[in-house]
This record gives sequence, structure tokens and C-alpha cells, in this order.
Amino acid sequence: MLRFLTAGESHGPAEIAILEGLPAGLAIDKDVIQQELDKRRGGAGRGGRGAIEKDQVKILSGVRFGKTLGSPIALIVDNLDFANWAQKMQIEPFESIGADSFHPSGGTALHPPLTTPRPGHADLAGGLKYGFEDIRNVLERASARETIMRVAISAICKKFLLEFNIEIASHTIQIGQIKLSNKNVQFEDIKNVFNKNPEIRCIDPNISSSMKNEILAATKSKNTLGGVVEIIAHHVPVGLGSYVHYDRKIDGRISQSLMSIPSVKAVEIGEGITNASLYGSQVHDDIYYKSQGPTLKKYYRKTNKAGGIEGGVTNGEDIIIRVYHKPISTLGNPKDTVDIATKKPAKALIERSDICVVPRAGVISEAMLAFVLADEMLRKFGGDNIVETKRNFKGYIKALK
Ligand SMILES: Cc1cc2nc3c(=O)[nH]c(=O)nc-3n(C[C@H](O)[C@H](O)[C@H](O)COP(=O)(O)O)c2cc1C
Repeated sequence: MLRFLTAGESHGPAEIAILEGLPAGLAIDKDVIQQELDKRRGGAGRGGRGAIEKDQVKILSGVRFGKTLGSPIALIVDNLDFANWAQKMQIEPFESIGADSFHPSGGTALHPPLTTPRPGHADLAGGLKYGFEDIRNVLERASARETIMRVAISAICKKFLLEFNIEIASHTIQIGQIKLSNKNVQFEDIKNVFNKNPEIRCIDPNISSSMKNEILAATKSKNTLGGVVEIIAHHVPVGLGSYVHYDRKIDGRISQSLMSIPSVKAVEIGEGITNASLYGSQVHDDIYYKSQGPTLKKYYRKTNKAGGIEGGVTNGEDIIIRVYHKPISTLGNPKDTVDIATKKPAKALIERSDICVVPRAGVISEAMLAFVLADEMLRKFGGDNIVETKRNFKGYIKALK
């Protein structure tokens, strides 16, 4: 139903995206998207590029007088640093720079090819796959800069979800060895964490300062750190996804979309990891029913170890997911590698790089979850205009009661 495509190289002129499939009539403006982009930009653990990236989004199509038209929505974010990369990233063949600057192994004398792949990055596998002698051809697209457009299009998906009172928020629960131990976290606290603590985005101030120290120590020792983000989707209706086919199970769809975020190496739904070592009687959430007057009648659970999904279908409880990031692979003290031009031992290349992406990665996970949920809402409720989608939604909720 809903689909998007992004394009753009990390140091190219711009990142762009097209989102297709949203109904007409959804109120949207640039600021809604910009707010999300600003969340992705900051945070502790950013490298030098954070200071350059003052990303501003432009809406090019699909919106008129502040409302979606039902046609594809095209977005662009210009690269404000492109002037410094125009030659390195030029579209025209490099012979056009001048014959004297031609480099035999696929670059220019001014910009020699990168030939020392970083362990943990796409550099070597990507280069071999596409037949490149210059690793820049890989890293420009493998870079997580592309996620800027996922955040941009998903800001519109979040706005769509809000029409149904569905909200998504995230917070940092682990950086390196430092973990948030408080498991009793309220959704409102998570929602406000960015405003209260934009650097680390952990709800506990003491743990936050330990996390920050951990990042500073890694920076000092030219190392990098991973960690864990928790995302929660609130007020999700029962019945999104399906148990009938492998590719319609919503837990599978959500996991795939989150695993596609660079540096994510594991996704946990509910208490999935802990549950694996417990008895069934300790794990499964008992079901209750409450009926208070004609409007409030519903099934509910007192616990949510399933994380809001059973059998590939949302069960009406909050969706709770943990996303595990590895430490990023561009290291100030580079690891051993092989020079692909000479086949001799070498040290891996160093590109301007972050130290820890976890604080600002939460908004990217929120984006992917928002996209999947918006798509599932449209699969279930359809509608060419938001009024129609809402009417269908209301009818379903009424029928449930
Ligand atoms: C927001 C964000 C920023 C990132 N920044 C960097 C970076 O500056 N340097 C780096 O080496 N990796 C960075 N990464 C991770 C790499 O893009 C990623 O490790 C690489 O593409 C290999 O993919 P994989 O880790 O998913 O296997 C970042 C990831 C995210 C989510």
C-alpha cells in the first residue's frame, strides 16, 4: 500500500525520497518533518559532520495548501557541504578533470581511490560485489546519511498515525556497558526525553551522565561504542498484521525494517531475550476483560511481555521493541586490513566519523516502525482520503466493542 524510495550519496548534492500511497487530505507541513530531522542530527557521540549538517527539508510534490493530494510526495535535503565535495563526487567522467590528473587505479591524482576497507563496514564486500577499485563508490551509499530520508518520509507517516491517536517514542537504554535498570518506564517520560535530554535521550539523569562519560572515554581512546534503544508504539489497535502468511506477520515486517538500519544487529520484541530462558507460565500475559459503561469495553493484559504482538498480529497493547546497535566500524586506531590495490597488509581507512550513534538512532527506529504501522493501517482500513480512512477505522473499533 505504502512505499518509499530514497536516493543520494553521503557527499553528493542532495538526499531525496519519494513516499507513495498516503491518502489525500492529511494536513502536513515542512516543520513537522524538520523537527524529526533535527532529532536525528544531534546527540552525544557525533563526529565532525554534525556541525556541518544543518539539514533543511523541502517538499517538492504531493502537497497543496498544507494537505496531501494522494499523489507521490517528493522530498529533498540539500547537502550543505557539497561545494567541498563537488569534484570528488562529480557526475561527469573523471577524464573531464584533465588527463594529467588521471589515476590508473580508478581515481584522480587529486582524489586517489580509497583502497583499505574497514572491517565491519560494507567496504570490502560491497567493492567485490560491484567490481569497484575505489571504496568511496561503496561507502557513499552504505553511509547512514541515507537514513535522513527515512526520518523525513516517516515524519509524514507519524502525522498520519496521529490521526488515529497512535504515537511512537524511543529512549536510550544502554550505551556500552552502562544500562538503564528501571523497567517501569512511562510512555510520557519517553515522549519527553528528547526535550529534557537531547544529548543522551535516557530518562534517568544519573545513568545519562555515566553514559555520556562512557562516550567521552571512547572518544579519548579513539574507540567507538554501541548500545540499545527501546521504541514504544502507543494506542496501536488490535488486528494489524496477520498470522496467515510469513510476509504478513507484523513482527517479521517490523524486525526486517529495523534490521535494515545501519549498525543494527539484533531486534527484540517485548521481553523476547529474557523470555527464552523462562517457563511458559512465567512468560505469557494473562488475558482479562473490562466493561465500564457502553464505551469502554475491552480485553487487556496486566503485563506485556509479548511486546504487543501475538501470532504476527498486534494485540492492542503497546508495541515494545529493543534495537541493538554494534559499535561503529570507523576507528581512530584503525584495525588491520588488506590494501585492495596491492594486496599487502594495511590499516583501515579513516573517514570523518561518529563515536556512538545510539542517542540519535532512536528517531531512525521510530521512523521505520512508523512506516510499517502506517502501511499496516492502510492495508486494514484503506481509503483514498483521510476522512474515508478514519471512517473505516471508527467502524472497526465500534464493531470490536
Ligand atoms: C545514525 C547513524 C550514523 C552512523 N555513522 C557512522 C559513522 O560515522 N561511521 C561509521 O563507520 N559508521 C557509522 N554508522 C554505521 C554504519 O553505517 C554501518 O555500520 C555500516 O554501513 C555497515 O553496516 P552494518 O553495520 O549494518 O553491517 C552509522 C549508523 C547510524 C545508524
